[in-house]
Amino acid sequence: MRFILSSSKFLNSSNHFIPLSSSSTPKFSPFIAATMSTVSNTHNDVTTTQIKHHPLQVAKRLEKFKTTIFTQMSMLAAKHGAINLGQGFPNFDGPDFVKEAAIQAIRDGKNQYARGYGVPDLNNAIAERFKKDTGLVVDPEKEITVTSGCTEAIAATILGLINPGDEVILFAPFYDSYEATLSMAGAKVKSITLRPPDFAAPIEELKSAISKNTRAIMINTPHNPTGKMFTREELNFIASLCIENDVLVFSDEVYDKLAFDVEHISPASLPGMFERTVTMNSLGKTFSLTGWKIGWAIAPPHLTWGVRQAHSYLTFATSTPMQSATAAALRAPDSYFVELKRDYMAKRAILVEGLEAVGFKVFPSNGTYFVVVDHTPFGHENDVAFCEYLIKEVGVVAIPTSVFYLNPEDGKNLVRFTFCKDEGTLRAAVERLKEKLRK
Ligand SMILES: Cc1ncc(COP(=O)(O)O)c(C=O)c1O
Repeated sequence: MRFILSSSKFLNSSNHFIPLSSSSTPKFSPFIAATMSTVSNTHNDVTTTQIKHHPLQVAKRLEKFKTTIFTQMSMLAAKHGAINLGQGFPNFDGPDFVKEAAIQAIRDGKNQYARGYGVPDLNNAIAERFKKDTGLVVDPEKEITVTSGCTEAIAATILGLINPGDEVILFAPFYDSYEATLSMAGAKVKSITLRPPDFAAPIEELKSAISKNTRAIMINTPHNPTGKMFTREELNFIASLCIENDVLVFSDEVYDKLAFDVEHISPASLPGMFERTVTMNSLGKTFSLTGWKIGWAIAPPHLTWGVRQAHSYLTFATSTPMQSATAAALRAPDSYFVELKRDYMAKRAILVEGLEAVGFKVFPSNGTYFVVVDHTPFGHENDVAFCEYLIKEVGVVAIPTSVFYLNPEDGKNLVRFTFCKDEGTLRAAVERLKEKLRK
């Protein structure tokens, strides 16, 4: 059986994608396989099954996103025994006290539908943490909505507050769900490119991108994939533009506890900004429990209204026992967050030193668990070709960044590695790079 995949841009909704060059023809596609239906014929007690091929179908608003080839490349990675520094999830487990809290909640019978906007204890814990982190006092009942991961907070925010035709400005490279969800909302996406070496926000470009139709600016700090953290100066400027033009900020802060060298600043904490900001976050990165998918959106009541309207019809409520455990997680002692940061800084050092030693130009990562490098010293045509070479010939997986841009050309020199892996895995990857990567 042979499946053809006609995609030159490879995205999926959870940041887990690995590319193939456009010249490649993947041989296996579970995505396409899933579009086949089986037709059973029963004759003389014998059942035969024929595969009937259907053309792929997708609504127009998602047409341009093609399909992920993550699965195919994971298979390729497995075939080549590649070490996966592509996927943004830890290969180690979350803390026992949080897992125990979930088990206890299940034993205690916290197993039926939760209150739609969050179990009261979690809303309270989120408010407590937000106050600790930002100094802002929010009403847990009126200003916090618990969602299924930050991904749903993003979707509920966009679908609940953006009208068809509204313009939303993204900083490219951007997390893949933003563009797809904006497309589902019928929004017009404008993107401003953050460029190496420091990925500074090009303020003048931003200023000229704002029009009377601009409804929101999406900010992600610390920033995936670059590790950039928006500075107070940049955020103050963005804030003044938003206030002047009556624009909202949707702020994705899932890596806020992985801010290494620079202070993390929540846009909502800047003067005049709380009333126009939706702050989104989740449990996954901070507690190494990405599979739990508990997230939240914090916003003033007039914006929370829209978020909750969308959330009510997207998922209505999210996992009850995991919400209880998340409340326990967020009340972790300060030492937990200090150790998390220290561990990640050690991991970052192993990877960054290794990448520099083999000849990459490595751009500073001040936050997140990603680092972006310039692969061009190795002479490959683009990021996709380089990543393919890296898997097949070196045995390491990285992510081509062109998939994070409206204009993929902007990312063709850059690839992203993650250091959310145990130190042994990071050292093994560095060894492979040293041994096999050739200029
Ligand atoms: C920038 C960013 N936002 C949101 C998410 C998704 O968060 P969650 O797993 O809580 O849905 C990710 C996950 O990779 C991310 O990198």
